[in-house]
Amino acid sequence: MTDMRVSIAGVKFKNPILVASGTFGFGHEYGKFYDLSELGGICVKGTTLHKRDGNPAPRIAETPSGILNSVGLQNPGVDAFCAEEMPFLKRFDTKIVANISGNTLEEYSELAEKVAAAGVDMIEVNISCPNVKAGGLAFGTSCTSAAAATEAVKNHAGSVPVMVKLSPNVTDITEIARAVEAAGADALSLINTLLGMRIDLKTRRPILKNNTGGLSGPAVLPVAVRMVWQVANAVKLPLLGMGGVASGADAAELMFAGASAVAVGTALFNDPYAPIRVRDELAEYCENAGVARVSELTGGVKPW
Ligand SMILES: Cc1cc2nc3c(=O)[nH]c(=O)nc-3n(C[C@H](O)[C@H](O)[C@H](O)COP(=O)(O)O)c2cc1C
Repeated sequence: MTDMRVSIAGVKFKNPILVASGTFGFGHEYGKFYDLSELGGICVKGTTLHKRDGNPAPRIAETPSGILNSVGLQNPGVDAFCAEEMPFLKRFDTKIVANISGNTLEEYSELAEKVAAAGVDMIEVNISCPNVKAGGLAFGTSCTSAAAATEAVKNHAGSVPVMVKLSPNVTDITEIARAVEAAGADALSLINTLLGMRIDLKTRRPILKNNTGGLSGPAVLPVAVRMVWQVANAVKLPLLGMGGVASGADAAELMFAGASAVAVGTALFNDPYAPIRVRDELAEYCENAGVARVSELTGGVKPW
């Protein structure tokens, strides 16, 4: 039996399969299908200082092998998350990763303080949401502001490890990764969605009311593998890889590229059991390949 345990920045996950922020809500709906303790960890829906209703509909459009979304961080606000969702999530034997998104550095600081006090296992700093006007992607596309957001969170997270979520919508992702590492991040997660747009030919209107949205799903896997590989070669930080993972083979690819663990997102929308299946397929691959510890896959690619 392959040892499926992995750790990122001192946080020990029972297996390397997490669920990606914004695709799993706070776990209530999926908890009806299986015990959430089966998961390596849960990156919960992005939390902001105040409640947000998100962007107007339509905010999801199907694309070949993926979806475009412009949900825009709909969430009940950090206080409701801490008071109402954390007690539910803490009932499960899995790691809880809070995902926070601020409009200003002060907001990032306040969010970090609040979720750390609520007892989350790790903080994922979203500096890469393409669907909000202020903050979000604006922080993730410049080295200076990405570093500033990282520092703000680090200074207010106490002993909770801080993982910064990188955007693929940049010319050179390794520059941002290095800046965030220098600012004190404990880990990195990547990739968030790729900016995209679709147009209805009859109305000549964009399909999404927000005009543009973020592309995710199997279509983006090769981009995620490439970026995880580039970042793994640029920094020493552990990586949580994501982007289009729908099978154990996809997860193994991201781990070979350099990820210590992997999150499943869009695949949940047509198969709620996807993370459990991905975990089992990955374990089967490891056993067939004679891999003693799944962590041996990390960075195992042999580039030409
Ligand atoms: C509907 C939807 C909502 C999302 N919301 C968030 C969010 O709140 N915070 C965040 O960091 N990423 C969010 N993401 C990005 C995912 O966590 C993930 O990085 C991305 O979708 C790539 O993985 P996937 O192809 O497996 O979905 C969202 C993605 C989708 C599809």
